Amino acid sequence: MKLTDLKKVDCGFFPTPLHKLNNLSKELGCNIFMKRDDLTGMGANGNKIRKLEYLVRDALDQGCTTLMTFGGPQTNHGRQTAAVAKKFGMRCIIVATMEESGPNEKLSGNLLLDAILDAEVIFLDTSSIDKTPGRSPDDIKADTLRLRRKVADLIIAECAEKGEKVYEMPAGGSTEIGCMGYFFAVKEILDQLHEMNQPIDYLICPSGSNGTYAGLWLGAHYYKAPFQVIGSCVSPHDPVYVEKMAEYINRASAKFELGVTAKAEDIHMLCKEYAGPAYDTPDPVTFETIYRLARSEGLFVDPCYTGKGFTAVIKEIENRNIPQGSNVLFVHTGGLPGLYSQQHLEKFSKDLWEGRPHRIMG
Ligand SMILES: Cc1ncc(COP(=O)(O)O)c(C=O)c1O
Repeated sequence: MKLTDLKKVDCGFFPTPLHKLNNLSKELGCNIFMKRDDLTGMGANGNKIRKLEYLVRDALDQGCTTLMTFGGPQTNHGRQTAAVAKKFGMRCIIVATMEESGPNEKLSGNLLLDAILDAEVIFLDTSSIDKTPGRSPDDIKADTLRLRRKVADLIIAECAEKGEKVYEMPAGGSTEIGCMGYFFAVKEILDQLHEMNQPIDYLICPSGSNGTYAGLWLGAHYYKAPFQVIGSCVSPHDPVYVEKMAEYINRASAKFELGVTAKAEDIHMLCKEYAGPAYDTPDPVTFETIYRLARSEGLFVDPCYTGKGFTAVIKEIENRNIPQGSNVLFVHTGGLPGLYSQQHLEKFSKDLWEGRPHRIMG
């Protein structure tokens, strides 16, 4: 397929702003900029809107009536998919893998927004899976994926009986088509930098299901961007992770005949440095970053993705892996409903509220 044949729907507001963080730049000795994809303008914002513009076009072209995707109960991708589905008159089904939270969880964060959007959230009950301590996490993951497949097939069959056709997207919408949203974001960024007459040496983004990084890497190489693209994982991975990323990039490059090839050693990925102990489990440094950015620039990042991603910006500069005086651009991928999710409110309350003297007047 030629790049010129790739079509999209319009549902975001682009270009998103790109601006300097003056106070943090002074504090850290680098010129730090932010690309504001927390302002993509639809469904409470975030990086998935760029991917969904291409995915939804593909779904409509295939005659699909229902968007189905996967994630945890607090999936940002699910929430943005639900919003875009409504705009295009489609049904949205989110299959959410249940860990501790589930249908009895109080509505909070993304789950609340899903409910307001009238998305159908189906909780995947993993209690039948053997999780005895010592069992290999890979085996547990494989069982979970098998169960999820079984449930997805049941949903597809149910929809077919009603004459509905399902467009299935993996978690994060990270397919060859999905990542093209970020491929084209590079062109948008380069145009903005050209207009600002501003060079950038390093572009940093959080990486979860890989589509954002893959698209940015591919776009940076295709459009010959002068910056290095650095990803920072939001859950810890072994270094072998970069091989999978290179394979994904090469699949997308081949699909759209881009003539760009990635090797594992070309991928600059911080696989575990700022990932915290696990997915959606921030460490104290993530919270320090949330407070520091808010209190220096008046801007928010979230505990699951962008708090970890922006920690990479601060720490890579402080540790001098990024030299003083460099020009650094962080892609803010959104995720702010995560600030209000039930699992983080306790920590925020402890840090910011409990035990503090409250002034009461009047
Ligand atoms: C707010 C936010 N930032 C970053 C990411 C990571 O993007 P990707 O899944 O494309 O790697 C995600 C989704 O997974 C997200 O919701």
